[in-house]
Amino acid sequence: MNHFLDIHKTAPSDLRHMIEHAREMKTAREGRPRGALDDDQPLKGRMVALIFEKPSTRTRVSFDVGTRQLGGETMVLSGSDMQLGHGETIADTARVLSRYVDLIMIRTFDESVLTEMAEFADVPVINGLTDRTHPCQIMADVMTYEEHRGPITGKKVVWCGDGNNVCASVMHGAAQFGYDVVFTGPEQLDPEAEWQGLVRKSGQSFSIERDADKAVEGADLVIADTWVSMHDAQSARERRHNMLRPYQVNEDLMARAKPDALFMHCLPAHREEEVTSAVMDGPQSVIFDEAENRLHAQKAIMRWCLDV
Ligand code: CP
Ligand code: NVA
Repeated sequence: MNHFLDIHKTAPSDLRHMIEHAREMKTAREGRPRGALDDDQPLKGRMVALIFEKPSTRTRVSFDVGTRQLGGETMVLSGSDMQLGHGETIADTARVLSRYVDLIMIRTFDESVLTEMAEFADVPVINGLTDRTHPCQIMADVMTYEEHRGPITGKKVVWCGDGNNVCASVMHGAAQFGYDVVFTGPEQLDPEAEWQGLVRKSGQSFSIERDADKAVEGADLVIADTWVSMHDAQSARERRHNMLRPYQVNEDLMARAKPDALFMHCLPAHREEEVTSAVMDGPQSVIFDEAENRLHAQKAIMRWCLDV
């Protein structure tokens, strides 16, 4: 069964195939209205369940539109409206949904909900973000980097801020796509030791540099994300902001990276917090290409899952 659970759990050749396929599908529909169907309809007759236990704009809309472009149908389900949110087990939910739908995408809190869903579902399951990882985002990010600058292999990627779920998937991508990662942020928010080991074991470099100015020297790509994720307690907001303020991505920081460095952010962004508007709307920013590429990358992921 082709579940898409995490970047490091998917073979590099499959990841590479999906990126190339996404690029082909994007090119093939250039200039068409967003709602136009693709020439191929590989999801015709297929039903996709999109389950959200957390808010979403990009993931929700891109999976929904992508499925339709491929000729499929979707149902968008909120976790709290399902029996899943009222005591039914994940295993039973997975077995029941497998009788109705061909593919399940879930955004949830604890990673165990995703892995249990995959264990008990008879259909492929896609990780649409957990507290721990966000693999679909990194597929779009690699695709976006390569559209603008060519192969990402051997490049220096600098993560600024919180070593969170998106950072984890960026680190998984280092091992699979062959780029190096520098993390710059406060020690309390370092990425998990397991992911640090995973990158190093793959032969790519991973390092921590507390000084953001030094970290971005020679960077090909600078990435930021929110300082308070959906799974973080709102009561920790002020403390986190105080810790993270030195890691804001602004024009001064970007000026220390390579002149052709790109800036990425998975969005939603908090302007003038983790990144300034000058950077977000500046010439190095590719944030809206990233958002668009979620659509194309996920279409390739769904096709890989279903082998169609
Ligand atoms: N980047 C991302 O996953 O955005 P949403 O939370 O809007 O889905
Ligand atoms: N780190 C963020 C990513 C949102 C797409 C969060 O989990 O809230």
